[in-house]
Amino acid sequence: MEVYSEKQQIIKAVDALRDKKLTLGLVPTMGALHQGHLQLVKKALANNSKVIVSIFVNPTQFDNTEDLQKYPRTLENDVALLSTLSQTDILVYAPTVDDIYKGKTVSEEFDFDGLEFEMEGKFRHGHFDGVGTIVKRFFEIVKPDNAYFGEKDFQQLAIIKKLVEKYHIPVNIVGCKIHREANGLAMSSRNTRLKAEYKKAAPYIYKTLTEAKKHFGTKSANKVSEWVEKQFSKHDLLELEYFIIADTKTLKPVKRKSNNKTYRAFIAVYADDIRLIDNIALN
Ligand code: PAF
Repeated sequence: MEVYSEKQQIIKAVDALRDKKLTLGLVPTMGALHQGHLQLVKKALANNSKVIVSIFVNPTQFDNTEDLQKYPRTLENDVALLSTLSQTDILVYAPTVDDIYKGKTVSEEFDFDGLEFEMEGKFRHGHFDGVGTIVKRFFEIVKPDNAYFGEKDFQQLAIIKKLVEKYHIPVNIVGCKIHREANGLAMSSRNTRLKAEYKKAAPYIYKTLTEAKKHFGTKSANKVSEWVEKQFSKHDLLELEYFIIADTKTLKPVKRKSNNKTYRAFIAVYADDIRLIDNIALN
């Protein structure tokens, strides 16, 4: 499997593929690959002739230096995992920070029509400008036909769809279902950093989400939120940062339920110093 660390090399490689009229899929990742990522890559392999997997821990989307430093970096292992899916149809692009940012590690500023101010945007300052910057650059470099993103980062997925719409980027964005451990915990590269007792506690997040979904059938969004807050206030290890029921399109918190809208519950929880997010469709 080819692993490229320089922009000019990957541009040359993908240009050659495009000249052969091959369809290209892109799976952007920050590495520390797990089964959730592999599902995205499998889907991309099924629908494209070649798949580019980018592996890059993007500094501009972190508002916390310690989180950035501690983010797992496991390139060798990631490449080995990808080779189990295909030896011939995957190209890895694992650039350095300098290759991407050329000594100017700053984000562009975006207007995502307000999507960026909800939930994660309130708690991770500048996060979506960082995500928008790197994803737009990857789209410019790779020019994929299709790009694959997980619904675990549902707000990110909505923002990337908005980015593509606003900048008229000719790529089809494919959202993929959340991949979970058998105990319900949403797969995340951060899970590898959980200490044993927190790993054991973390499935409580999804369990609470599924119960909240049941309550949403008969209760108001406010009542469900109060119930979730109460569940976490009783928990010794997990600290709730936010629980929000939002309109799936606008991502704005729901005030009064309406029959012709779809809603999703979003949650962020601290397990020790590890921040975990998850979400669930409610109707
Ligand atoms: O979801 C992620 O892993 C990252 O936010 C992404 C899309 C690869 C951009 O760095």
